[in-house]
Amino acid sequence: MSANLASVAYIAATILFILSLGGLSNPETSRRGNFYGIVGMTIAVLATVFGPRVTLAGIPYIVGALLVGGSIGLYAAKKVQMTQMPELVALMHSLVGLAACLVGFASYVDTSIVLVGAEKTIHEVEIYIGILIGAVTFSGSVIAFGKLSGKIGGKPLLLPARHWLNLAGLLGVIWFGAQFLNAHDINSGMLPLAVMTVIALLFGVHMVMAIGGADMPVVVSMLNSYSGWAAAATGFMLSNDLLIVVGALVGSSGAILSYIMCRAMNRNFISVIAGGFGTGGGTTPAAAGAEPAGEVTAISAVETAELLRDAKNVIIVPGYGMAVAQAQHTVYEITKHLREKGVNVRFGIHPVAGRMPGHMNVLLAEAKVPYDIVFEMDELNDDFPNTDVSMVIGANDIVNPAAEDDPTSPIAGMPVLQVWKSKTSIVMKRSMASGYAGVDNPLFYKENNRMLFGDAKKMLDEVLVALKS
Ligand code: TAP
Repeated sequence: MSANLASVAYIAATILFILSLGGLSNPETSRRGNFYGIVGMTIAVLATVFGPRVTLAGIPYIVGALLVGGSIGLYAAKKVQMTQMPELVALMHSLVGLAACLVGFASYVDTSIVLVGAEKTIHEVEIYIGILIGAVTFSGSVIAFGKLSGKIGGKPLLLPARHWLNLAGLLGVIWFGAQFLNAHDINSGMLPLAVMTVIALLFGVHMVMAIGGADMPVVVSMLNSYSGWAAAATGFMLSNDLLIVVGALVGSSGAILSYIMCRAMNRNFISVIAGGFGTGGGTTPAAAGAEPAGEVTAISAVETAELLRDAKNVIIVPGYGMAVAQAQHTVYEITKHLREKGVNVRFGIHPVAGRMPGHMNVLLAEAKVPYDIVFEMDELNDDFPNTDVSMVIGANDIVNPAAEDDPTSPIAGMPVLQVWKSKTSIVMKRSMASGYAGVDNPLFYKENNRMLFGDAKKMLDEVLVALKS
């Protein structure tokens, strides 16, 4: 393939990636967006493999690597459960970071690139920054994978003088950077480069370990952004325009997502990165003696069906438990049934519900819930006082009134769906265990709240049978 044809293919791929991002911004066009992305990536890979910079002798190696990588990707995508998607995404981000590091070291030791003067310095700066971002992305994403999969506890690790440690790391990176740029040959440059890589790896671990359970959404989107910048840095090292553009697209859209997540959590981005918000995590039971403990009122599936049947306005608030139970299809069956009976059913989606951005929207779209009854938190939070029944399905932190009432709570200040303002709220979950942030939920003890204990899918199946009988 000639250089011109490869350039045209790259431009086509860039346009497709931009269209893809545009499509992904709306549930109704997201399938098309995904399709554009697939076509764009296919063109990009073909144009690179058969482009002017790959010799014929190199193609078998690339095809071999594609087969190995592609098979692993295909296997992982087929095997992964919907609830494991966030971990898989974190793992993918780590691979982008690792690739940036490897490309950086390879470019540095590549003797076929002979540069002098300013060009040499620019190339070395690209390598240094590329490896720096890549290493932080790699180790940070590996820790995020551990936290999201529950292999590492959600409790923040707060080392004494952690801010000073970070500052020392930053100064070390700058100092070794100067050593690296002043090095006369590869041998003397390798040591500062390797030391900086170790510092960056440790910083990535430290940064994510210091973040508490409830703030993980910001980290997930931030690592998404970092992986984009790591790819862009790789593009600079390889002088590949497409990689630079695509990396910048991912990096900036990830940064916008981080901003949205911070706004959703009412957090200051810098404070989240500095770490220390949120406490315990996973499915630890509510701490003994935690503030509002009291009596909870249980309800049966049949009684739930009666309340729903008598209601005029119903709001359903899905959370992570709906994903675990895979209850979205039954949720839709119930919605359909109630709507046919004239009940106004709407869904309230919290921006950080579940374990990845848009998690609930994906599940509801899969179950074919119409988009026009799915609302964002802000669009419907004022409507709870006029709502007869709010049905909370496997959600916990996102409906926790302590976020508003208790300034000492680890989730204080995070906007939540005010389900307790409706006439009756029903919380479906299996036990009294806390949510991801590991904090007790005073909602459970409120007078107008009922607990429907059990697996969300099983209980909703029972509610549906009772509704239909
Ligand atoms: P959580 O607060 O984690 O609560 C989920 C609840 O679902 C749990 O309390 C659990 O209680 C229940 N559950 C689990 N399996 C269930 C099943 N099979 N049937 C019924 N219930 C089940 O979830 P949320 O309200 O969606 O809030 C999300 C949390 O995750 C926030 O703290 C957020 O910051 C964090 N987070 C979000 C993201 C993104 S990007 N969205 C990423 C990382 C972390 P039982 O065990 O008693 O059943």
